[in-house]
Amino acid sequence: MPLAHECMSNSNYSCTACGNITSKWAGRCEACGEWNSISEDTGLSQGPTKTSLGRSRGLFIPLNNLKSTDKPLQRIKCDLDELDRVLGGGLVPSSAILVGGDPGIGKSTLLLQAAAKFAINGLKTLYLSGEEASSQVKLRAKRLELEESPIQLGSDTNLRNILTTLEKEKPDLAIIDSIQTIWSDKVESAPGTVSQVRAAAHELTSFAKRSNTSIVLVGHVTKEGQIAGPRVVEHMVDTVLYFEGERGNQFRILRSVKNRFGPADEIGVFEMTGLGLQQVINPSALFLSSRGAPSAGSCVFAGIEGTRPLLVEIQALVSPTPLSQPRRSVIGWDSNRLAMILAVLEARCEIQFSGLDVYLNVAGGLKISEPAADLAVAAALISARENIIIPESYVFFGEVSLSGAIRSVGKMENRLKEAEKLGFKQAEGPKNIQSVEDSNLEVFENLDLLSFVNKLVDDTKKQTLGT
Ligand code: TYD
Ligand code: MG
Repeated sequence: MPLAHECMSNSNYSCTACGNITSKWAGRCEACGEWNSISEDTGLSQGPTKTSLGRSRGLFIPLNNLKSTDKPLQRIKCDLDELDRVLGGGLVPSSAILVGGDPGIGKSTLLLQAAAKFAINGLKTLYLSGEEASSQVKLRAKRLELEESPIQLGSDTNLRNILTTLEKEKPDLAIIDSIQTIWSDKVESAPGTVSQVRAAAHELTSFAKRSNTSIVLVGHVTKEGQIAGPRVVEHMVDTVLYFEGERGNQFRILRSVKNRFGPADEIGVFEMTGLGLQQVINPSALFLSSRGAPSAGSCVFAGIEGTRPLLVEIQALVSPTPLSQPRRSVIGWDSNRLAMILAVLEARCEIQFSGLDVYLNVAGGLKISEPAADLAVAAALISARENIIIPESYVFFGEVSLSGAIRSVGKMENRLKEAEKLGFKQAEGPKNIQSVEDSNLEVFENLDLLSFVNKLVDDTKKQTLGT
């Protein structure tokens, strides 16, 4: 029984999107801005756990007395290179991982494939589904041609049963699909609510810490409704991976947004096929493979995602609008960043976009967050606005500042190497692009956006850039 002072007041409300707790109901969450996401939290808070009791003495140790372990982190690979890289080089024992994504994006498929690989590599692997019966999971395994792999399947939603099983079985890896279906009898609210999701995630991650088991929690991203989204548990786990992709597009991107054991923002690229998710070993080639004939408004950005270079096509369309407030529509990039580039083009280069709708798209369903894409976006916008075609052999990268200066970006050598590998011949970049050794590309240095724009307009008209 939880002690009285440890019970949460019955009048708490929390946001199902971000988990923020308030004392009053509101139509919109103050913390994340989501509408209709506040729901009443009638549940009692969890009782104290074994680990949270009885440590009144000896809590602190002087830093310099603490023995440091020189042992490198042990990592276990599953031989799906795209997944191993996103995990930071493999699975770390005792770690807790959250895999979030829209329903139907392929989380269960990926994790069943990964579970099979880990099991074949000798890990004791449990796959616990709270959503499907074991026979359904078996059917999926059959479709994926993994039915002979040594995984233990289970189907339960009761946290107490799950923890008892985990304590008994002591697996190396346990996959819980999904955290929103698991409920604790210590909490009174319905499964899927913030307090249930939080309680279940807390118990399961503490189990991972005190045992040698790595836990993978699957979490559905929810836009609205009663079910708490994965953001509620993000801070409790070591690694947060999100599965991105668009419906109707077969590419799936697994992105690490937080990783205590490796770089964040690393991506793994997969393709959904009839035989499950297949790794995409050369994503740049794939993202560029569907490029049509050269057209105005299109150019290639030489980007970096995590540790890997990735070339993608940026597409822009500019068209006159009857609306008093023109549309600014962005897919795959930050809309604030687009507003900034448009403002810099207007203020520093005197190119007007008022009275024009602007659409910007990153081809292939990829989401880019790098400021290094600024120059490529500016090039695509100018190309669309002035109706000029940028030659296919060019790549672009560089950050644009509010003053119109073009700032240097990281990993230029990797960007140029990848472009060279894919047959590009010229690169337009920031100031010190010429200092990159080891590149056979013809590189052009750009100090500010105005001279870049003038060059683009003059030279593309002559069909030769950069001279
Ligand atoms: P699933 O892994 O169930 O998604 P999630 O767990 O994220 O909700 O994937 C469901 C989709 O993937 C479904 O639309 C069918 C498709 N799919 C394939 O295209 N090929 C396959 O081999 C499998 C197993 C699923
Ligand atoms: Mg699923």
